[in-house]
Amino acid sequence: MGAPIVGLVLCILVTAGCSPGEKPTERQPVVDADPSRGRVLLSQYQCGACHTIPEVPSSRGVVSSSLEGFGRRSYIAGRLANRHELLARWIEDPQAMVPDTPMPSMGVTPQDARDMAAYLLTLQ
Ligand code: HEC
Repeated sequence: MGAPIVGLVLCILVTAGCSPGEKPTERQPVVDADPSRGRVLLSQYQCGACHTIPEVPSSRGVVSSSLEGFGRRSYIAGRLANRHELLARWIEDPQAMVPDTPMPSMGVTPQDARDMAAYLLTLQ
């Protein structure tokens, strides 16, 4: 009963992300998250071992994509609409969102993931 509903909601979110002409400024505001705390957490969780992330100390990794300008991107990992909720869930458990992704689960708590997602969405 639960899974089909989650799937449906995901579908709606993903489709909404594709709507033509949408500008980043029209995105829903990020609530219950602190981007400046997220910036510090990105360093603490060592996301920078694999990613280059602007303004985050020791984040010069080149294993994966640079997260520069991530707030302007339409998709997460080319597949999920780049929305705060989905980005936070991706950071918390990437394989739950995209089963064959090479990004490891980093043991991130839900609130930490929300804060890191909020910071990444500020990057223009
Ligand atoms: C061991 C290397 C590694 C670490 C550490 C890592 N990632 Fe990733 N990350 C990846 C890979 C590989 C991908 C590409 C996944 C894909 O395309 O399926 C990725 C993709 C992403 C994306 C989507 C990028 C895009 O171009 O769409 C985001 C956002 C992201 N990671 C955030 C984080 C955050 C936040 C952390 C720290 C909690 C982190 N990553 C730690 C390897 C890593």
